[in-house]
Amino acid sequence: MHNLGILLSGRGSNFLAIAEAIEAGKIPDARIAVVISNLADAPGLAAARARGLTAVAIEARGRKRAEHDQEIVACLREHQVELVCLAGYMRLLSPGFVQAFAGRILNIHPSLLPAFPGLDAQVQAFEYGVQVSGCTVHFVDEQLDHGPIISQRAVRVEPGDDAHALAERILEQEHLAYAEAIARVVSGKYAVVGRRYLPRS
Ligand code: GRF
Repeated sequence: MHNLGILLSGRGSNFLAIAEAIEAGKIPDARIAVVISNLADAPGLAAARARGLTAVAIEARGRKRAEHDQEIVACLREHQVELVCLAGYMRLLSPGFVQAFAGRILNIHPSLLPAFPGLDAQVQAFEYGVQVSGCTVHFVDEQLDHGPIISQRAVRVEPGDDAHALAERILEQEHLAYAEAIARVVSGKYAVVGRRYLPRS
């Protein structure tokens, strides 16, 4: 059984999509061992508790990033987490955290990277005037929204869209993309060569 650790800061819809995919048997041999948030009042943390999962708040306020991250790493280790899934976790990871789980941290970002990294990617894409955007699941390295890409799904910008409507349609694809990417990574049937993620049968 592969233990997943979820990190979130907000509503947690990606976390819920992962939990539902596991229940539906779409991520074989995986379970959510712990859900951690930097914000005690994150709705996603309450949703995790409501599902009977172990949900832990590790507040960052007033602490150095490296120190806060070490506490999260300790919590992940305590729950024997093998794969860390960032699901709307709104903090940059320190190098120590990335190194502690090298190649074993995933993130989802609501644009087709390398376009529009950082905050409000859907608004950035909409205002730039792109006609296609989407989402990206990638391994986390020490740079923001940067590591090797595991999976991308494209979403067209439709006439009459506003940034909110676009974000909603991207989110639907995020939920599918994240569960699929986790299943592939958990299966171990891949290699990463340079920046390239290569699935193996
Ligand atoms: C998603 O758009 C995700 O791509 C981004 O943050 C948002 C989190 O949404 N990293 P949710 O909390 O999973 O609903």
